[in-house]
Amino acid sequence: MSSLNTKSLARCLERTELLRSALQWRNTLDKPGIQKVLRQVLSLRSDLLYISKIDRYKKKAESLKKKEAVPNKLRREQLLERNFVFEGIFGDNPKLLKVLETLERAAGTDLPVIIEGESGTGKELLAKVVHANSDREDAPFVSVNCGAIPDALLESELFGHTKGAFTGAIRDRQGKFEQANNGTLFLDEIGELSLDNQVKLLRALQVGEIQRIGRDETIIVNTRIVTATNRNLLNMMQQGTFREDLYYRISVISVITPPLRERKDELPLLIDYFRGESAERLKREPVQISSRLNRFLKEYSYPGNIRELQNIIYRISCLADQTADTPDLPPHILQNSNLSPKEEEFGEIADDASLDELRKAAIDRAEIVFLEKKLTQTRGNVTRIAQQLNMNRSYLQKLLKKHEIKSKEFKVKKG
Ligand SMILES: Nc1ncnc2c1ncn2[C@@H]1O[C@H](COP(=O)(O)OP(=O)(O)O)[C@@H](O)[C@H]1O
Ligand SMILES: [Mg+2]
Repeated sequence: MSSLNTKSLARCLERTELLRSALQWRNTLDKPGIQKVLRQVLSLRSDLLYISKIDRYKKKAESLKKKEAVPNKLRREQLLERNFVFEGIFGDNPKLLKVLETLERAAGTDLPVIIEGESGTGKELLAKVVHANSDREDAPFVSVNCGAIPDALLESELFGHTKGAFTGAIRDRQGKFEQANNGTLFLDEIGELSLDNQVKLLRALQVGEIQRIGRDETIIVNTRIVTATNRNLLNMMQQGTFREDLYYRISVISVITPPLRERKDELPLLIDYFRGESAERLKREPVQISSRLNRFLKEYSYPGNIRELQNIIYRISCLADQTADTPDLPPHILQNSNLSPKEEEFGEIADDASLDELRKAAIDRAEIVFLEKKLTQTRGNVTRIAQQLNMNRSYLQKLLKKHEIKSKEFKVKKG
């Protein structure tokens, strides 16, 4: 019964066929017969309507899905159209777009902004973005690395001092707060501030005034505060190493910069950007990247984030002649990573991948490992590999092409 009720196009066709053959040889049709046919036709009609509705629903769902894919690109274009200033490169990564949109909104206000995220993810760059997009852009952007200044000197660094205020204070000195008057003060590594200095900072932020060490009168400053940290301030508050009242004072607007491994879709853009940037600096043509190195760059996890990627590209731009290859990578990476994909690695496979897909990925991997090993051994001599292994040379060439491996790149051995 249930299969008879299945609402599928195939089932409907079958029922039409049954109806047709039932009617085909009849000469007459009595009233009950007509009614029976009518019932069947009506049921067929309602099933067809149902199917067409499902179809329309599916199409609608698909078009909605498609629409979801568009906005990221659009969001980026809209940011740029609104003259959003960003001294770098950004793509369609939704996490980064969200950060930029938040900062864009915050920039025009005087609200304090905190930028949290791993080292090298662009926190300082984003602090400058806040400044550049605010109406303080013509006033100074002053940066203080709270982790790099000895605790005892930080107060004078921030608030300044008068001559003779302490040993070594040989002349009056303006602090960073004053320097950043009407502009933006960027307090980097805010999590490194001692509890003592946290109190002093909080007081200055609360009253909007500062006091140079050794001077009684206070100075009113109009300084926008942007902070950054790679520490977990919430944990620090629980442990009592970061003051809650200071945290809430500086974190009215907060964003988290995603690590590079979570925005790998931006890699090609960033690589190209740094290739161009380093070429300009080093006065050379942009370095070419071998397919093997390219594969490595795509798979590497970048614990040092964008700064590490930038260093790698500058390094290879400096060391490689025309095309850079994996031996040009920094020693710490060469030592710690297996540059050929391992047999057991499948690369990026979706969580719901089927066994067949996994099998195919494993075969691809095996082929890559094999080809690269043989090419290294023979220094890129495909004919010799074919002879050694009694394989068809054109089959080998086909495999190389499939995996975009260039035998030429194995010819020159760099020291
Ligand atoms: N989206 C980006 N486009 C281009 N360069 C970037 C981008 N994000 C970061 N960088 C560069 O990466 C390096 C590290 O960024 P930085 O802001 O110093 O990171 P953090 O302060 O989080 O340690 C800097 O040289 C910066 O210019
Ligand atoms: Mg930094």
